[in-house]
Amino acid sequence: MAKALGEAPEPGVDRQWTRNLGRGRVAGPRLPQQHVLEEAGPSTASVHAGTYTDPVTRAVGTPIFQTTTFGFTPESYAAFEQGHIRDVPIYGRYGSPNQWAVQEKIAALEQAESALVTSSGMAAITTAILALTNRGGHVVSSRDVYGGTFNFLREDLYQLGREVTFTSPTDIAEIRAAIRHNTQILFFETLTNPLLKAIPLVELAALAREHNLLLVIDNTFLSPICLRPLDFGAHLVVHSCTKYLNGHSDVTAGAVAGPRKYVDRVWNQMLKFGGSLDALPCFLLERGLKTLGLRMRAHTENAGRIAEFLAAHDRIRRVHHPSLPDYPYPWLREYCPDGWGGMVSFELDGDDEDALKFLSRLTIPLVATSLGGVESLVSLPFNTSHSFLTVQQRREVGIEPGLVRFSVGVEDADDLIADLDRALTS
Ligand SMILES: Cc1ncc(COP(=O)(O)O)c(C=O)c1O
Repeated sequence: MAKALGEAPEPGVDRQWTRNLGRGRVAGPRLPQQHVLEEAGPSTASVHAGTYTDPVTRAVGTPIFQTTTFGFTPESYAAFEQGHIRDVPIYGRYGSPNQWAVQEKIAALEQAESALVTSSGMAAITTAILALTNRGGHVVSSRDVYGGTFNFLREDLYQLGREVTFTSPTDIAEIRAAIRHNTQILFFETLTNPLLKAIPLVELAALAREHNLLLVIDNTFLSPICLRPLDFGAHLVVHSCTKYLNGHSDVTAGAVAGPRKYVDRVWNQMLKFGGSLDALPCFLLERGLKTLGLRMRAHTENAGRIAEFLAAHDRIRRVHHPSLPDYPYPWLREYCPDGWGGMVSFELDGDDEDALKFLSRLTIPLVATSLGGVESLVSLPFNTSHSFLTVQQRREVGIEPGLVRFSVGVEDADDLIADLDRALTS
């Protein structure tokens, strides 16, 4: 029987060596030149947490350490000997000052002990799930998870000897019923694509505690500015940093954040799979993160105005957005008092052909996949994320003909609304 990896101490694991290292901290990894903020608001953490100050030039930003390897010192040899090579600059795949700078910022934002950056969101998700499950284990996840995650869970994880049960992301009774003796993790997304279904996070965390399971949450759609799942009892958070965290549609990256004991396991798995992040994308991600607070406020405000405009438009059948009175998951408003980012989806009064014509009339949003960038992006689930389903199957998951997914950027809301109005009425 597979061992559950929850809160309980792990029998047989000798923790003695960690006590002998003479290093008290459990957070990090970080260098003495990095800016550490014990207590700070999210915008202060966005700007300052983790920055590496070059002792020679006092450069205000972290320099780019474009190197694959670092000269050995007595500390490096001690790290090999004592088993803490995650904490010393040795080799780019193991860790680097640029990774540590951005990891410290993400950890500060998620209020986590430690974080790890990876070469994509999928690298973060697959590496974390494999690190936290064993052969013979079982995962409960949602039918609505991102397509890449769904395919990994259904195809690859199964091949690797783990079973997966897919449930509704919002029905806690169905999730509870899916738990088995060998269940190890619950994997859910804070908000789903494209219908913005919100998970009952408080109840999920209680369920995980009750059954000694790890709750792993993909927080890509909300970012730690809107919601910090660890505060609600999640054990680990994953991100596609390609989206809001970087925010400029110019970096592919992922992240994992949580207690060091779990992040270290994921790091150890990453060493073998090789999904580490190089210095230049780390630098870009660190720069993008500095404006995360500002951007999330702008995304939330713009998306709220657009949802309101669309809900009142006579060419729109339905709008999915947490600010609207008919939003079916009101608990999200309690979880996220500062907003819920820039995603809106809506059904045109027409079919998918009409939606295609509508897209061709827009002049500001780009018709493209992805989300979370400063520029508005628009796409149709029927011919992108959900193109592998039949019309009937799409209807069963709530995707009606004419559904449009809109990642609202930080442009002027008046310009976006005028563009939408023109495209809807011409
Ligand atoms: C919620 C969510 N998680 C993970 C991913 C995968 O991220 P990446 O494309 O950075 O691998 C995506 C990508 O769209 C996503 O939307």
